[in-house]
Amino acid sequence: MEFSRLSILALFCLVFVRIGASPLSAEDYWQSVWPNTPLPKAFSDLLLPYGRTHSLPIRAEEINQYSTLFFEHDLYPGKKITLGNSQSLGKIVRPFTKPTQGVTDSIWLTNKKRQSLDDFCASPTATGEHKHCVSSLESMVDHVISHFGTTKIKAISSTFGQNQDQYVVEEVKRVGDNAVMCHRLNFEKVVFNCHQVQATTAYVVSLVAPDGTKAKALTVCHHDTRGMNHELLYEALKVDPGTVPICHFIGNKAAAWVPNFSDDHLCAI
Ligand SMILES: *[C@@H]1O[C@H](CO)[C@@H](O)[C@H](O)[C@H]1NC(C)=O
Repeated sequence: MEFSRLSILALFCLVFVRIGASPLSAEDYWQSVWPNTPLPKAFSDLLLPYGRTHSLPIRAEEINQYSTLFFEHDLYPGKKITLGNSQSLGKIVRPFTKPTQGVTDSIWLTNKKRQSLDDFCASPTATGEHKHCVSSLESMVDHVISHFGTTKIKAISSTFGQNQDQYVVEEVKRVGDNAVMCHRLNFEKVVFNCHQVQATTAYVVSLVAPDGTKAKALTVCHHDTRGMNHELLYEALKVDPGTVPICHFIGNKAAAWVPNFSDDHLCAI
């Protein structure tokens, strides 16, 4: 008798709590998986109310960050890097920036044609990788956790200041190979594409401008450049596709997911 009365009370409380609880917000969901880890700014568009019309994610001043191509062997302290240093590269890149998926994608030959969002998400990438389009923070989090099979992962992104195009490399940190990149697609609707980029190495490059402004640039170097746009590579660096590794910066609306090797992880070995 006592037991059933208690269980009825428990059931009542449970129903009451369920009705009373508000749904977990996207930010709460992030915090429940990675407590005390702030949501990277790169993903903040995923917190915008659903269904609103948003501007395109890539602003004009960011195009120079995206369209700068350079060699992997140029990543060393003291090296000068000028963003958007090729006028002709800019001319080639700009026509493809709206409304296709992004500027860096225009270095791949097969991505030159314009596509709708649904067509883009349904079609294979130039390099035959699997695309995973997500339109919520929760589905991105679930996707990357299932990809790595652990929550011991972290997102790394760039912090570029505005109006700076001359930099000197201060430090180069290797982040890892074949990172999972999640980048906002260049459509008004907020959708991110998360894909593992094969034959790549990611770096975090610390940069300093002549006035002391610092930037941290997430950088991806492609070791397999066979599918790249010949005209664009030749204009920028005077090399042919499939010859040397080519690197580019990752803009403010993208991040690389990599394993988070913490201290206790190292101690356990
Ligand atoms: C990485 O792991 C360490 C140790 O578990 C943790 O303190 C840190 O917050 C994690 N970093 C991120 C960005 O999740």
